Amino acid sequence: MSQELEVILSREKIEQRVAELAEEISRDYREHPPLLICVLKGAVIFLSDLMRFLKIPVEVDFMAVSSYGSATASSGVVRILKDLDQSIQGRDVLIVEDIVDTGLTLNYLRENLASRQPRSLKVVTLLDKPSRRKVPFDPDYCGFTIPDRFVVGYGLDFNEQYRQLPDICVLHNEG
Ligand code: IMP
Repeated sequence: MSQELEVILSREKIEQRVAELAEEISRDYREHPPLLICVLKGAVIFLSDLMRFLKIPVEVDFMAVSSYGSATASSGVVRILKDLDQSIQGRDVLIVEDIVDTGLTLNYLRENLASRQPRSLKVVTLLDKPSRRKVPFDPDYCGFTIPDRFVVGYGLDFNEQYRQLPDICVLHNEG
């Protein structure tokens, strides 16, 4: 079976939208510089582009989570593979995620981090697939709303492949 890639969001379009998100975030957080929490691995490219457009000082930490089951069918059980290096108590925390699909991962993460008593807790996601939700979840900032298609590139993978693509593409399985 061969796989074909169809670009649905070009690198230029992504860059422009990431710059707009950074403007908005810089404005909202100018009084209280945030701690950015990047969810590994898919959000690393988004994080690194986003933070270079920000006009406020930020700190960064990383978390790795995994849902049991296959990558294309989230099971809803979330496991923390790597936790934060520091306490977030009293901090203004902004979770940086690549994509919200069923909402299960971020729903869990937001509850988990909220229990650590940050001063504020928001979520920025580059992509949102609202038609796939299993639990209600509204990101505070969102780059693009996309239809129910499996996408790769710009950090997003299929079986750990395609993360390095500069554009976001739909993966078509050909006969
Ligand atoms: P959720 O818990 O179903 O919202 O899934 C979130 C995670 O599933 C994301 O952080 C991605 O790692 C993965 N995921 C969901 N949809 C896609 C996709 O279209 N391409 C690549 N990964 C995806």
